[in-house]
Amino acid sequence: MELNTIYTPVQDDLLRVEDRLKLVSKVDFAHLSDLLDYSLKSNGKRIRPVLTLISGKFYDYNPDHLLAMATAVEIMHTATLVHDDAIDKSSVRRGRTTINALWSEEKAVLLGDYLFAEAGALTASTNNLRAIKLFADTLKTISSGELNQSFNAFNLKQSHAQYFQRVAQKTAALFSMATESGAAMSQAPEEAIQILIKYGYDIGVAFQIVDDILDFIGTEEELGKPAGSDLTQGTITLPAMLLLERYPENNPIKRLLDTKDRQGEITRAIDMVRNSSIIQECYQVASDYCAKACRNLNQLPDKVGRQSLIDIAGFITIRKK
Ligand code: IPE
Ligand code: IPE
Ligand code: MG
Ligand code: MG
Repeated sequence: MELNTIYTPVQDDLLRVEDRLKLVSKVDFAHLSDLLDYSLKSNGKRIRPVLTLISGKFYDYNPDHLLAMATAVEIMHTATLVHDDAIDKSSVRRGRTTINALWSEEKAVLLGDYLFAEAGALTASTNNLRAIKLFADTLKTISSGELNQSFNAFNLKQSHAQYFQRVAQKTAALFSMATESGAAMSQAPEEAIQILIKYGYDIGVAFQIVDDILDFIGTEEELGKPAGSDLTQGTITLPAMLLLERYPENNPIKRLLDTKDRQGEITRAIDMVRNSSIIQECYQVASDYCAKACRNLNQLPDKVGRQSLIDIAGFITIRKK
């Protein structure tokens, strides 16, 4: 199913989130305004703010706070991407030149900081203490996940548990913040909030597993960002771990650290993963997370959003970008 179709029940709200995102760049400092406008332009999938909007519609729909929260979630996501691209020295994102490549790394760092603060201020504007604490905790979790990844670059002795912990921190935390904060805006009962948190977390893990698969099987044209970049960064993701386990001897990933032809070894590793059952196995792990995510949704009120959540979980394992 197409995302546009899945988003139909929150289409109007999403348009209002887009309007609010445009307002963020209305500052009277032209350079900052350009950076904000460029980074917040609407060619991302907007999956996280949609999760917030849907999660906020099961109980008391409070559009004012909900729209602010959904906007904050997308701005926070944007900040992580701006920093991630600077860290990775990546030059393409969402099919366009990155901030670090078009302006500079320094500008990207400072813009990311500004965006985090903007997201925090918007979250605080809801006067919801739970959401404010959640914002701070989530930012700490994402940062430690990214630090964990950075400290473990090219570390080939990582366990699956370490991989899943990192994925939970760097990606699932923001997905569950998206659903929890939406639910919190609607005075949902705690049991319902917990169901939505669990859902967000599980599809978040699946989302990152699929992202890690696409890094092996996608192309820059399809993804709108470079493919094969995880091995270039030394990020050992699930497909790479499975390849290391399958070929403990003659393995191109093992040669990455002492080779004059790193790109050649990366290409060989990618080919080996593509020509094995590893991709299918990783998809199976992602689908299992998506199935688990939906398991308790029937305990939520019978509203249209319930089906949208199921459809989003379904979209995650078939997405191509
Ligand atoms: C990219 O997220 C970062 C990851 C967690 C893998 P998205 O794929 O949601 O990025 P956009 O917002 O659609 O560009
Ligand atoms: C993104 O993970 C997680 C963030 C917290 C930004 P990736 O490093 O896999 O994201 P992409 O592939 O660059 O979008
Ligand atoms: Mg990256
Ligand atoms: Mg990636």
